[in-house]
Amino acid sequence: MRTPIVIGNWKLNGTRAMADRLVADIEAVRPELKDIDIGVCPPFVYIPQVVAQVAGAGLGVGAQSCAEYDTGAYTGEVSAEMIRDVGCQYVLVGHSERRTLFGETNEVVGRKTQKALAAGLTPVVCVGETLEERQAGKMNAVVGAQIEAVVAAVGIQAFERVIVAYEPVWAIGTGQTASPEQAQAMHASIRAQLAAYSPAIAESVRIQYGGSIKPGNAAILFAQPDIDGGLIGGASLTAEDFLVICRAAA
Ligand code: G3H
Repeated sequence: MRTPIVIGNWKLNGTRAMADRLVADIEAVRPELKDIDIGVCPPFVYIPQVVAQVAGAGLGVGAQSCAEYDTGAYTGEVSAEMIRDVGCQYVLVGHSERRTLFGETNEVVGRKTQKALAAGLTPVVCVGETLEERQAGKMNAVVGAQIEAVVAAVGIQAFERVIVAYEPVWAIGTGQTASPEQAQAMHASIRAQLAAYSPAIAESVRIQYGGSIKPGNAAILFAQPDIDGGLIGGASLTAEDFLVICRAAA
């Protein structure tokens, strides 16, 4: 049985006060949600305060990206080691906004996944196709290549410690979510791809769905057999919405 996991990706949002309030509200309800993993990914600068706040509360903290390098002259970058050093457990890798707005290729995503694993973090590897790719019927090939690049970089065994997040680009922040059938089909396809390497690992790897998950659609998405929770953007910014979504996964 795979433990569902819900992660809030705050993206470029928040203040110290907002982080404080939101985390306190999640923590207050955490004991009722024993059967799922929950994480939050604040902007880098708020990570230490959130880590200090959640100490021992069963709430994981993650970063939204990491460098593909360890140390050196890479202005503005933050390494996986640093993220681990300040107490994070997770790091998002290859989010579609990183791929499309910041030029992260499949190879970069593979290297970042490698760095995250080497630092002892759990990488949440994000994959997903654009609307044009879906309309051209290329979604399985595109997502398949994204997965393949990570397998090539870290090996199938490493997927014991990897979480995959399927986020169709056309569903992110648009209010247009994938239908449960569309999401389930892609999740099953990712699992089948991994099963060709190792059926046991394919069975155990957690695959989250992300893209306009809201309180009203979370339950039906999470009820799909190959969907193991969600990566939540906009709806993770208020405890009210985020906790309804967490409850739907429990
Ligand atoms: O990381 C989260 C995803 O990009 C989903 O964002 O829930 O705002 O569509 P969204």
